[in-house]
Amino acid sequence: DKGGHKHFMAKEIAEQPAVIGDTLRHYLSAAGGGLTLPQPEMDFTQYDRLTLVACGTAYYACLTAKYWFEQLAGLPVDVDIASEFRYREPPVPARTAAIFVSQSGETADTLAALRYCEGRAAKILSIVNVPESSIARESDLALPIHAGVEIGVASTKAFTCQLTVLLLMALKAASDREAIDPARLSDLLSHLRGLPSTINNTLELNEDFRKAAYQLSSAENALFLGRGMMYPLALEGALKLKEISYIHAEAYASGELKHGPIALIDEKMPVIVMAPRDALFDKTVSNMQEVMARGGKVMLITDAPGAAAASEDTWLTLTLPQVDPILSPILYAIPAQLLAYHTAVAKGTDVDQPRNLAKSVTVE
Ligand code: F6R
Repeated sequence: DKGGHKHFMAKEIAEQPAVIGDTLRHYLSAAGGGLTLPQPEMDFTQYDRLTLVACGTAYYACLTAKYWFEQLAGLPVDVDIASEFRYREPPVPARTAAIFVSQSGETADTLAALRYCEGRAAKILSIVNVPESSIARESDLALPIHAGVEIGVASTKAFTCQLTVLLLMALKAASDREAIDPARLSDLLSHLRGLPSTINNTLELNEDFRKAAYQLSSAENALFLGRGMMYPLALEGALKLKEISYIHAEAYASGELKHGPIALIDEKMPVIVMAPRDALFDKTVSNMQEVMARGGKVMLITDAPGAAAASEDTWLTLTLPQVDPILSPILYAIPAQLLAYHTAVAKGTDVDQPRNLAKSVTVE
């Protein structure tokens, strides 16, 4: 049942305020007017290092979480693609917790990486959408993301719910390790509580994204750029676009532009820049100017302060609500999804069942 939407993907994008609200309700409890952090059987003072392993979109959730665990909790994080991790046979230092992220909980490479860590890692934690899955069953602790069944092959609501659980875990780690000021912590928790309504407001910009996507649909290639926590989101934006619209898209950390990809810039290569006005914004603007000076067309996805500060020479500027920079990866997933979705619709591709792809990759 597509609930009145044309595709399951559209339905699942639209469900995000509700399912993220569910995820938050499952993990946060209100106590004395404030919010208390989830208390899974996981004491982050017992670990000196985390290893996060996954495939595809779940891997980009892990890459985002690295920024959170490192910045908020001062906990070093290694992130790896499951198919690389399992055959590299990396050492797993003592006091390492291994975290596996998977929507289906059945991805063959992720499961094999988990089995490799059995007996090697101090703790095996998984973040899954399917609680009865193999990955959940074989973990010391499995945290469900409560996204509900995801049918569209391109992952949308599972990604934002994975991010939500990962951010809650990073906040739990920060609190266990006394790395965060309690006032800042309660501030972030109340911002998180407000996120479903901010996402709702973002979904109301659907028509703007549809128009932007229409312009994008004639491109043969596209480049996504982001810095800091927006870098994994750029990767996710490029993956979504490739998967369902078959436009060749690549993503780079903005600072890498001049180390090679700038050679590709011309008027036929749209460059999608994901950049809220955060501490790194000015650096991203200078990368954008490098693109525009070479005739490149920039689609800037930012917030109102970013739109005001950016130059007027962008091809398109899309303005999202402003959120605390820690939360922006979750919010900026929405434009990544909407752009890909509407581009695919404009091209007439099979959005829910893209060619050559399967929802669950149970063979390597
Ligand atoms: C992208 C996508 C895939 C999956 C990947 C991992 O939209 O759906 O990249 O994210 O195959 O799948 P899970 O999360 O089930 O392990």
